[in-house]
Amino acid sequence: MTSSVAVIGAGLMGNGIAQLMAAHGMNVMLYEPFDDARHAAKDKILSMCSAIGDPDECVDRITFSGDLEASVGSVDFVIEAAPEKIELKQELFASLADITPSSTLLGTNSSVIPISRIAKELDDADAARVVGVHFWNPPYLVPLVEVIQGERTSLETVESAMRLLRMAGKDPVHIKKDTVVGNRLQHALWREAVALVASGAIDAEGVDTVIKKSFGLRLPVLAPLENADLVGIELTQDVHRVVFPELCNDLEPNPILQQMLDSGRTGMNSGQGFHHWTPETAAAKRELLTRHLLKVTGRT
Ligand SMILES: NC(=O)c1ccc[n+]([C@@H]2O[C@H](COP(=O)([O-])OP(=O)(O)OC[C@H]3O[C@@H](n4cnc5c(N)ncnc54)[C@H](O)[C@@H]3O)[C@@H](O)[C@H]2O)c1
Repeated sequence: MTSSVAVIGAGLMGNGIAQLMAAHGMNVMLYEPFDDARHAAKDKILSMCSAIGDPDECVDRITFSGDLEASVGSVDFVIEAAPEKIELKQELFASLADITPSSTLLGTNSSVIPISRIAKELDDADAARVVGVHFWNPPYLVPLVEVIQGERTSLETVESAMRLLRMAGKDPVHIKKDTVVGNRLQHALWREAVALVASGAIDAEGVDTVIKKSFGLRLPVLAPLENADLVGIELTQDVHRVVFPELCNDLEPNPILQQMLDSGRTGMNSGQGFHHWTPETAAAKRELLTRHLLKVTGRT
């Protein structure tokens, strides 16, 4: 049974995944090549513990390391959470394949890069142990993890990943083709939301209000395909006939995103994105999100 993991990259997701695994009794090696990020990781993980009411002691099960080989040499499962850059991940997985025993499973938390591309240069035996384990932020609160089977990932690797994630209290889903599901669904909605604002039909506040005050309220108990069954497939087909020609099908990001970047409207970090933010309203939104997730996951 898997009980030791290495997490690669002590950033937002890596710290959160390390916290989750340690809080579920696993020994964690947390590898981070940059001193500043590595030295900051422990305090960040402690503040995660305090935000969600986990005991601080779980951090004692985490070893912080700047040595890749020592971090991954004797663990059952590696979870990579390094930056979303394809060449970086390909190089990292080539190293991991070389320096880990052939029984070690190699997971990637990549958001959108296909698993088969990350494992492209590996031989079949090594590619068979590479699997997508796509956590959502924050990983210690969002239950779902997408377990993505690459073209050469073995079923045994998928099953081991699902077992490990269940041990960590997660709800894994097996994606049988090399694609992401949650981000495709989410960004189909974002593309439409941005296009509606860009068209002048409605402002950002209006779009977000429409979502939050209508189907967003129903989603936790009535997901889209359940909803299609509820209204009936015939109505669903009739609506699609009329609405689909209206929908945005751009293959590139909407130009207003570049215009916003060019004018410094980069989002919460600059105080202005689609909405206006002060440090206080941004902090309040983050706090509200944590409290909401604690509530809907039954932790408070
Ligand atoms: N941020 C999210 O909401 C989110 C959600 C799901 C998945 N992801 C994915 O998780 C991965 C990490 O995202 P993040 O938001 O935690 O990024 P991040 O920038 O916060 O963290 C990445 C960490 O990796 C370190 N790093 C840099 N080069 C490295 C290398 N060669 N080897 C190991 N570590 C290295 C960085 O110093 C940093 O600490 C990405 O693939 C991202 O797409 C992110």
